[in-house]
Amino acid sequence: MVTDQVVQTPRVWEDLRQEIVGCDRCVPVLDGSERPYIFLDNAASTPAFRRVLEAVEEFLPWYSGVHRGTGFKSLLATEVFDAAHDAVGRFVGADLSTNTVIFTKNTTECINKLSNRMNFRPGDLVITTMMEHHSNDLPWRKNASVLHVGLTPDGHPDLQLMRKLLEQNLGRVRLVAINGASNITGICSPIHDIATWAHAVGAKVFVDAAQLAPHRPISMLADDDPRHIDFLALSAHKMYAPFGTGALIGPMALFEKGDPDVVGGGVVDVVTLETAVWNRPPHKDEAGSPNVVGGIALAEAVTLLESIGMENIAAHETALLAYAYRRLKAIPGLQFYGPTEDLSDKVGVIAFNVEGVHHALAAAIIGTEGAIGVRNGCFCAHPYVKELLHVSPEDDRILAAEVIAGNKSRMPGLVRASLGCYNNEADIDTLAEMLERIVRKEYKGTYVQDRATGTFRAKGFSPDFEKYFSFVRLAAGRERRHSEAS
Ligand SMILES: Cc1ncc(COP(=O)(O)O)c(C=O)c1O
Repeated sequence: MVTDQVVQTPRVWEDLRQEIVGCDRCVPVLDGSERPYIFLDNAASTPAFRRVLEAVEEFLPWYSGVHRGTGFKSLLATEVFDAAHDAVGRFVGADLSTNTVIFTKNTTECINKLSNRMNFRPGDLVITTMMEHHSNDLPWRKNASVLHVGLTPDGHPDLQLMRKLLEQNLGRVRLVAINGASNITGICSPIHDIATWAHAVGAKVFVDAAQLAPHRPISMLADDDPRHIDFLALSAHKMYAPFGTGALIGPMALFEKGDPDVVGGGVVDVVTLETAVWNRPPHKDEAGSPNVVGGIALAEAVTLLESIGMENIAAHETALLAYAYRRLKAIPGLQFYGPTEDLSDKVGVIAFNVEGVHHALAAAIIGTEGAIGVRNGCFCAHPYVKELLHVSPEDDRILAAEVIAGNKSRMPGLVRASLGCYNNEADIDTLAEMLERIVRKEYKGTYVQDRATGTFRAKGFSPDFEKYFSFVRLAAGRERRHSEAS
């Protein structure tokens, strides 16, 4: 134990814990008892802020479709929904006189949209890095030629190489697409420096802020600032508002040009049988009836995050991360990935493996016996994880062939614990105690791996989900499907 180094938790953070819907809810564990759930999977998705839920409940009696109704509720909903766009734009420091905020489903949809709307020409290059989530890689590959900047030995993108590639491909690079923070190592990119380098060669910069926006203050800066971020995307479900909204922020001028990638209702001003005249942004790029409730939820979340203060959140999470590494590094047999000492450029993501224990087994034990939500695998960043694990190209080919043949049992991977602003030292202590038990082989269950998925399950652990959440109607449908199938 490192009790002398315990981070003092100011009252505000304990109060914030009460702001989390479902915080400390009890879940079943292997021995048949129940324990308060420890949520350390915030990089995947966060629970909701209570204030967000309250805002949704307050709004629902006024709910109506937006933009086309003449009734009072529609007028009110339109006002609120439009204001929600502005709140998100302000949260990331965008100049709203020249930039638009487009609501989507999530960051993935934002990046696909931007890739479709960039109007790439043959030969255009996008520079990205080996550190990216697939969502900030595959959409670019679809429409342009992509160069992946390699890594330094400590898992950072090689920024010297990025600058070299920018200079070597002068005139061809249209965009540098970089994550604000990695979902694997938490490493933050120097986004404003990268913007300066990109702008110097006439390229634009896109920041995938899915992992940055919940943890650090962001300012896209003035459009004429060389450090300005041209485009940015984020996901509400990683920002305590899991109601199905993402946001893409970028220059109005770009979205005014060209055709929207998805067409239909809402995107047009006038339609004849021969032609369609597009609406103005953001409507032009929000086809169909938008997710009004999700937009309001996101706006409420960013308003609360702002009132807590993103600098305060960053300081709190960094202190907690330092505590976590002190605590976890004292456990023998844990291997960490990414920085563990200098945490100045890192958000609260802890990637590790337990020596001699499959990552999927470790994660299953942590969940099944510790009531702790973590995650394992390659986290939608296969190239990055394989680089961190030094998987050789030959092994990579063999493993890929195994997966194609339906066997994921040897897929390489890591375990990931990720922090939110409401986590505390007690959460870390519970994780550490569980890891100590795993290292000492003192876990209780007998775990069996499913070759097809690679996941492990404890024998005899089959929780009665319906006891915790009643799906009466869904279950009835499932039973009907089963009986029809049998
Ligand atoms: C860095 C990063 N980018 C993009 C995404 C995709 O976000 P979403 O699943 O909300 O589309 C994620 C999700 O984990 C992520 O971590």
